[in-house]
Amino acid sequence: MTSNFLIFGGSGKVARHITTLLSSQGHKVHSLIRHPSQVPEIESLGGNPIVQSIEDSSVTDLATTIRATSATTIIWSAGAGGKGGPERTQAVDRDGAIKSMDAAARAGVKRYIMVSAIDVRDRETKAEPEWYDEGDRERSDRGWSALGTYMKAKFEADRSLVVENGRRGLEYTIVRPGRLSDEAGRGTVGAGRVHTTEAISREDVARVVVECWGNEGTVGLAFDVVGGEVAIRDAVAEVARGRIDCFDGRY
Ligand SMILES: NC(=O)c1ccc[n+]([C@@H]2O[C@H](COP(=O)([O-])OP(=O)(O)OC[C@H]3O[C@@H](n4cnc5c(N)ncnc54)[C@H](OP(=O)(O)O)[C@@H]3O)[C@@H](O)[C@H]2O)c1
Repeated sequence: MTSNFLIFGGSGKVARHITTLLSSQGHKVHSLIRHPSQVPEIESLGGNPIVQSIEDSSVTDLATTIRATSATTIIWSAGAGGKGGPERTQAVDRDGAIKSMDAAARAGVKRYIMVSAIDVRDRETKAEPEWYDEGDRERSDRGWSALGTYMKAKFEADRSLVVENGRRGLEYTIVRPGRLSDEAGRGTVGAGRVHTTEAISREDVARVVVECWGNEGTVGLAFDVVGGEVAIRDAVAEVARGRIDCFDGRY
């Protein structure tokens, strides 16, 4: 059965893979982008571009857009990418994401898939993941020291998605990729309680997102995904079966 999606940050590299995948399966893909110059490329991937800046839109604006598309699934894959300083990171990665959650709820959309990042957590008051080893600890220290504003913004958005879901009632899944690469997808990953070593291709992240949409057992879960050897369908099914949640207890 075909479905109807709206991707926030549709011009992004992961989002473009998601657009290609979903549109090739016959789904309708609405793609929220910032620049009119990106319209032809999104159309060539099979997406329906909507030019609207997340930062400059209110919850009401975004809910109006969502309603106009009749989307039944929202995918968040936007990010400031560190451009424009800490204020812009907060405006997009934290506030923009939270606005999209509120807008989805207001528009009556239930399914919401967030592309977050591995190691997003409360490092100050919560214990580190129990499966972390010395290498994970070093990468975590390096990542948070280089990208602290971004990691905190992602953390606050994800915490809102989980903690405030009583009032929103979204059927969310949080996909937490490790370091991203532009290599061709392999179709295999490591998912769940994994070490943070292996980069994952953006194409494989897109496949994981699409697989989560197809697997309702992932609703309510936040899980890590890195490069690995398990077929994506099996890896996601394993996470769903085990109710593996890498964010639980860390917010
Ligand atoms: N980079 C990593 O290693 C890494 C690791 C883990 C997770 N992630 C996360 O994975 C997700 C996807 O990553 P990616 O590599 O695909 O990122 P990307 O290529 O930088 O895509 C992000 C997109 O968000 C768009 N955007 C920014 N501000 C916007 C606004 N106000 N309104 C509408 N769109 C806006 C950008 O559009 P413009 O082209 O107009 O700027 C960009 O196309 C992001 O959420 C990122 O935080 C990244």
